[in-house]
Amino acid sequence: MAQTKSILRALAGEVQEIPPIWMMRQAGRYLPEYRATREKAGDFLSLCYNSDLATEVTLQPIRRYGFDAAILFADILLLPQALGAELWFVTGEGPRLSPLTTQNDFDRLAGPQDIHDTLAPVYGTVRNLASALPAQTTLIGFAGAPWTVATYMIAGRGTPDQGPAHALKAENPALFDALIERISAATVEYLSAQIEAGAECVKLFDSWAGSLKGEDFDRYAIAPTRRIVSELKARHPDIPVIAFPREAGDRYIGFHAATGADCVAIDNSVTPEWAAENVQVSGCVQGNLAPGHLVTGGDDLVRETRRIVAAFRKGAHIFNLGHGITPDADPDNVTRMIEAVRGG
Ligand code: CP3
Repeated sequence: MAQTKSILRALAGEVQEIPPIWMMRQAGRYLPEYRATREKAGDFLSLCYNSDLATEVTLQPIRRYGFDAAILFADILLLPQALGAELWFVTGEGPRLSPLTTQNDFDRLAGPQDIHDTLAPVYGTVRNLASALPAQTTLIGFAGAPWTVATYMIAGRGTPDQGPAHALKAENPALFDALIERISAATVEYLSAQIEAGAECVKLFDSWAGSLKGEDFDRYAIAPTRRIVSELKARHPDIPVIAFPREAGDRYIGFHAATGADCVAIDNSVTPEWAAENVQVSGCVQGNLAPGHLVTGGDDLVRETRRIVAAFRKGAHIFNLGHGITPDADPDNVTRMIEAVRGG
């Protein structure tokens, strides 16, 4: 059957006059309706694990803006929690987990198949969305890529340079590799379950890929992504995968072929002209407006949005930001961005 959803057409390589559009963190604190629902839930994790409220916040930006895709509302750190890590969020600071530093810590983790009880509410959200979304809207599931998830599990929090994960990789490579292997296997189970619940596409967020250099990038950004993509494709051949090796720089080149991803998402540290010439030649790309433009707005927002559309015009492209929208963004600037994409 010919595909009618614009996001899925882009992911199949189709060049479209008007690129489809969605936005990382489109359900989030910049929206007053999100803040109200989050307050009702009590806290962020309670919102993630309440299928009805998570469905509601996923739908809010679709109702307000008519984006071409909805991304499941959840978090990349729910998987470590399902593997047995303690997880909580400190308001205004971010996530905290019980740090994993020893073989003993690792031995206490659950197996890849044991995650589904904890994550059942997430699958419930996906099922709700599969029936609630408008016919033209694509439902995207997601997980963190193994390196990025490992950086949080090892440090027990976000870190500016991923120092604790780099240190464990150097000091105890066997333990580090075992952790990457466990996260990779669990991620395949997690994403498969999202697909079975109704996700039509999945995205792997490797937010800290940029701190992997040389062979480390091959071993810990490319290889786990390739493995997850190939195992998912074996189970679900028609489900496209978007990979986001954020701040990969030159290593964006060849990332489609090296991993088997259908689309590579580009951050805003590279220009769209560079990415068109060096990355889009190998397949669909997604990106890459700097999120700061949605805070500052004005002519620059419109000019940069048009520049990105023009730069990627000759190939398959999904318009998006280079990273998540920030809480201080103006919701009206999102409307202006969408008008600039769709109205020229
Ligand atoms: O709308 C969407 O994009 C879907 C939901 C989504 C969230 N997090 C919700 C969220 C997605 C896809 C993520 C991915 C995620 N989570 C990543 C990868 C992408 C990236 O941003 O680099 C990472 C590293 C995380 C881990 C995480 N979650 C951190 C570091 C934080 C704290 C920083 C922050 O922005 O507050 C979160 C919290 C979080 N995840 C919020 C949301 C809407 C804010 C929580 C709140 O309401 O207080």
